[in-house]
Amino acid sequence: MSAEQHLGETVVAAEDLQRRVLELADAVSADYEGRDLLLIGVLKGAVFFLADLMRALRIHCEVDFMAISSYGSSTKSSGVVRILKDLDAAIDGRHVLIVEDIIDSGLTLQYLLRNLAGRGPASLEVCALLRKPSSAQVQLAPRYVGFEIPDRFVVGYGLDHAERYRALPYVAVLEE
Ligand code: IMP
Ligand code: MG
Repeated sequence: MSAEQHLGETVVAAEDLQRRVLELADAVSADYEGRDLLLIGVLKGAVFFLADLMRALRIHCEVDFMAISSYGSSTKSSGVVRILKDLDAAIDGRHVLIVEDIIDSGLTLQYLLRNLAGRGPASLEVCALLRKPSSAQVQLAPRYVGFEIPDRFVVGYGLDHAERYRALPYVAVLEE
């Protein structure tokens, strides 16, 4: 980890995160009322968002996790994804909501959607906390997005750089 890196401007303040997570939880609760919802968290970045979102839901839901890693360069996604940890249980017939920290190129999510769609869920949607403009190149229609952010590398609220900064209660730019 280079000593040249430091936190820059705040992109999403802690109180804005908390307010938006409650709004998203309200929307998810209304949309899935009466249905048996399964949240799928993508390790590790989505854990903080998922924990806050799930606690604010007013409907019954369960949670499972996947861990994936992209092949190739560490800064840009190749879209070729390796499953490091698969789900514990089958999802056929389940209403599945993938909970992601951030959509950058969208390639990771595109792979995940194709993989999970092949397992026969009753429905499959995405709830992403953050989305960068580059994801427009991939045909993705996440049902819920917390914030559209500029094309900068950000950390905090689960997002890391070399495993650092995840526990920040806000999202900030990492400056070189
Ligand atoms: P994508 O395949 O380009 O959409 O990459 C998505 C994944 O890259 C996310 O799940 C994050 O793990 C990581 N990522 C993308 N942008 C950032 C960022 O600004 N900060 C931290 N991680 C990021
Ligand atoms: Mg991630």
